[in-house]
Amino acid sequence: MKIAVVGSTGLVGGEILKVLEERNFPVTELIPVASERSVGKQITFKGKQVTVVGFEDAIKAKPAIAIFSAGGGTSLKLAPLFAEAGITVIDNSSAWRMDPTKKLVVPEINANTLTKEDKIIANPNCSTIQMVVVLNPLHKKYGVKRVVVSTYQSVTGTGKAAVDQLFAERSGDHSTEKVYPHPIDLNVLPHIDVFLDNGYTKEEMKMVNETKKIMGDDSILVTATTVRIPTIGGHSEAVNVEFGQDFDVAEVKEILEGAEGVVVQDDPKNFVYPMPLTAHGRDEVFVGRIRRDESRPNALNLWIVADNLRKGAATNAVQIAEYLLANNLA
Ligand SMILES: NC(=O)c1ccc[n+]([C@@H]2O[C@H](COP(=O)([O-])OP(=O)(O)OC[C@H]3O[C@@H](n4cnc5c(N)ncnc54)[C@H](OP(=O)(O)O)[C@@H]3O)[C@@H](O)[C@H]2O)c1
Repeated sequence: MKIAVVGSTGLVGGEILKVLEERNFPVTELIPVASERSVGKQITFKGKQVTVVGFEDAIKAKPAIAIFSAGGGTSLKLAPLFAEAGITVIDNSSAWRMDPTKKLVVPEINANTLTKEDKIIANPNCSTIQMVVVLNPLHKKYGVKRVVVSTYQSVTGTGKAAVDQLFAERSGDHSTEKVYPHPIDLNVLPHIDVFLDNGYTKEEMKMVNETKKIMGDDSILVTATTVRIPTIGGHSEAVNVEFGQDFDVAEVKEILEGAEGVVVQDDPKNFVYPMPLTAHGRDEVFVGRIRRDESRPNALNLWIVADNLRKGAATNAVQIAEYLLANNLA
C-alpha cells in the first residue's frame, strides 16, 4: 500500500515511520511530507533514504492512505484536498475530532464503525486514548457513570521544541526558545493547551468530550485536570471512576488482564506499577494501583500510563490503517 506521512519530520511523524516498520505494515511506497522548510530533506525508512516532498506532489502520487501529524491548521487546510483526491486521511490533530460527520477512532473500541465513505478519520487526543482503552471494557461490564482524572503529561506531547526546552534547561541553558510560559525542568505546570472561558484548558475539555464520543455514551460525566511534568517517556493518569453498580476488584483485574491492548502491572508490594520509563517505546496501555475508592460506593482508583507518541498517536493511527487494509476500506 502506498502511504503518505504528513508531518514526517516531527516527533509523532518519526514515531509513525518507526511503527510502520516495526509492525511490518506492507508499505509499497512511502511518501514523506513536511512543510516547505523541509522539502528536499532525507528521512530514513526501512534503511533507505527517502526525500521529503510538499503536499501537492504527495497528492499527485495518489497514496491510498495519508497519516497526518502536522498540526490542526495544516490538517484543516490539507486533509480535505487529500480526501477529495480519494485518499483516506487518518488525522492526529484535534481539527476533526468533534466534527459530527467524522469518526473518532480507537481500534480496540470502535473501528467496526468505519466504512469506505470515511475519508477523514480522526485519531483522538493522547491522554484520552490511554484512558478509554482501560475504561471501555469496565464500562461494558459495570457502566461508567463519572470519571475524575488528573494527568501527568510528558513534554513529548508538545513536540520537538518542548523536548529541546527541557534538556536545555537541564543543562543550565535558559536561552532557548520557550514553548511553555515557565521553566519546565524541576517544575510542574497545571496548564496544557489554551485556557477556555469556563476555566478549564482545551486539553481538559478534549478528555471530557472525546471520551463520550469514543465510548458512544453522552451520559458519562468526566472532569479533568491536565498537568505537564518534566518527563519524556509517556503520559500518566490518576483516574477515579464511579460505576452504576458494585464490582469486585479481583474481577476488575481479570477483565483488564483480558482486555485488548492493556497490560496490568499491579504488584505494589514488589514496587510493580506503571511508569513512563517502562512504558516508553511500547504500544500497550499499562494499568496498576487498582483499588477500591473507600470514600464512595461503586468507585475505583486506577493509575494508567502509556507512551503518548505510540498508543497516544502513532500506534493508534497505524492500527486504524491496518484495520482499513484488512477490511478493504481504503
Ligand atoms: N506529541 C504528541 O504526543 C501528540 C499526540 C497526539 C497528537 N499529536 C498531534 O500531532 C501533530 C504533530 O505533533 P508533533 O509533536 O509531532 O509536532 P512537531 O514535532 O512540532 O512536528 C510537526 C510536523 O508538522 C510538519 N508541518 C508543520 N507545518 C506543516 C505544513 N504546513 N505542511 C506540512 N507539514 C507541516 C512539520 O514539518 P517541518 O519539520 O517542515 O516543520 C513537522 O514534520 C499535532 O497536531 C499534535 O497535536 C501529538
